[in-house]
Amino acid sequence: MVLMIMLLKVVFRGILVCAAFLPNPVTAQPIDRAEINRGAYLARVGDCVACHTAGPQAPPFAGGVSLNSPFGKIYSANITPDPINGIGRYTLYDFSRAVRNGINKDGSRLYPAMPYPSFTRITDEDIRALYAYFMSEVQPVDYKPPETELPFPFNIRWGLIFWDAVFVKHERYKPRNDRDAQWNRGAYLVQSLGHCGTCHTPRGLAFQEKAYTESSPMYLKGAVIDNWFASNLTGDLASGLGRWSEADTASFLATGYGGQITALGSMTSVVENSTQYLHKDDLNAIAHYLKSLPANDEKASYKPDLPSVAITLSAMVTGEVERPGAGLYNSFCVKCHQETGDGEPGKFPKLAGNSMVLSENATSLIRLLLEGSNTAQTREGSKPQEMPAFAEKFTNRQIAEVLTFIRNSWGNKAPPVTPREVSLLRRRVQRKP
Ligand code: HEC
Ligand code: HEC
Ligand code: HEC
Repeated sequence: MVLMIMLLKVVFRGILVCAAFLPNPVTAQPIDRAEINRGAYLARVGDCVACHTAGPQAPPFAGGVSLNSPFGKIYSANITPDPINGIGRYTLYDFSRAVRNGINKDGSRLYPAMPYPSFTRITDEDIRALYAYFMSEVQPVDYKPPETELPFPFNIRWGLIFWDAVFVKHERYKPRNDRDAQWNRGAYLVQSLGHCGTCHTPRGLAFQEKAYTESSPMYLKGAVIDNWFASNLTGDLASGLGRWSEADTASFLATGYGGQITALGSMTSVVENSTQYLHKDDLNAIAHYLKSLPANDEKASYKPDLPSVAITLSAMVTGEVERPGAGLYNSFCVKCHQETGDGEPGKFPKLAGNSMVLSENATSLIRLLLEGSNTAQTREGSKPQEMPAFAEKFTNRQIAEVLTFIRNSWGNKAPPVTPREVSLLRRRVQRKP
């Protein structure tokens, strides 16, 4: 007995001595560290940076980013833990109410430019981790973003109570029993933090997303937002992901290049700020979920030309076969995208069978030709490549013709692009005739 007590004493002293040499008190909680790291990761998934950080030089999450909405400019909030201008005084409850219910600490409604209609599906566990991260890792920044001043009646925030009541279903993600764990993980990421529907789901008259889950065929069916067309992500064979493998989608999200298609427009920032940082398992889960969305009807098709019937580009250019746009393509595009529309793997996207080229809505294609583009810069992706701008070189008619040409060559078949569509978009994005 005495021996036992002495032994215990020795062990106890040993523990005390060891504790004294530890850099942190024994009370340091490894669980919290893990939770904070998880929160940092979830902030990546939610792409909080894209809307809350005003550029690469700006302090992270200090807000003041101006977001275009059909009603005017909306400025994002400072979400650093600054007690005056940020969310430093927010409890977990306040934070959860802002992020998931769209109501800030003083009870005002947030504009749905903050994607809370999707974030409402975030689990309690993930909200806790996000809160832990923002409160303990993010540097407080004493900066007051500009006030959002929308014209009447959109300036009346309490009016949003009705909008919210009609259009937002406040519920957490509920796993579906008839699907496996990977599918449910993918569905959760896409519908909640990933808020993919914010851009990819068509909107109704009140600017509400027409669906928030796969229960509606409108979900992720493609939509124009901020003068880009966010592609159809359902299983449609030509313009959707029907011909993409799950590996193509996962690679597209990780590197901005997959299925021989490159990310452009507003998707470039999604890839650069968010999806390139996702774990492989999560990317695969997202790809797996998207692949399960059934095909609907579509106006485009793709049937690769048989070599025996394919008309050569030179025949079209010499006028043997009349094809508007062929000459332009031959002079300005062949260098990178090839006569066959095959592009160059890892460098220039393939245009034959490209689901973006076959999109029902040509907004992104027109804008790409007007403005040119740079491929996404990612940790694992290939070297940056540039697509030149043609706004100065081409008339509206020429842009329409060359796009109609690539939309109907090599087996592609999609509705023509009209000079009027080009002229309208040119005015919207460049504000000149
Ligand atoms: C698509 C853009 C967008 C994304 C992505 C986004 N936010 Fe926001 N957020 C906004 C805008 C805009 C506001 C201000 C809305 C308003 O003034 O009505 C806002 C407001 C907030 C507020 C309310 C602050 C306050 O004043 O009470 C919090 C908290 C917040 N965001 C957290 C987040 C977090 C956390 C994420 C990532 C998980 C995130 N946001 C992602 C656009 C975004
Ligand atoms: C800020 C708007 C925005 C958000 C948010 C967004 N996307 Fe996109 N996405 C686009 C646009 C615009 C395109 C079309 C241009 C292109 O192909 O890169 C696109 C294209 C894509 C494509 C290529 C499909 C094709 O046929 O061209 C995939 C795959 C994709 N997005 C997946 C996602 C996923 C998954 C999410 C959510 C994690 C997401 N996107 C969130 C704007 C967005
Ligand atoms: C100098 C090489 C180069 C030339 C010339 C060029 N492109 Fe591109 N093109 C690119 C690159 C690089 C991209 C990818 C851009 C990105 O991802 O941001 C691209 C993307 C595209 C896309 C979108 C495909 C996708 O999957 O993202 C279309 C459509 C396109 N080009 C059409 C044309 C047409 C039409 C012409 C001629 C009028 C042309 N390009 C000339 C390099 C070129």
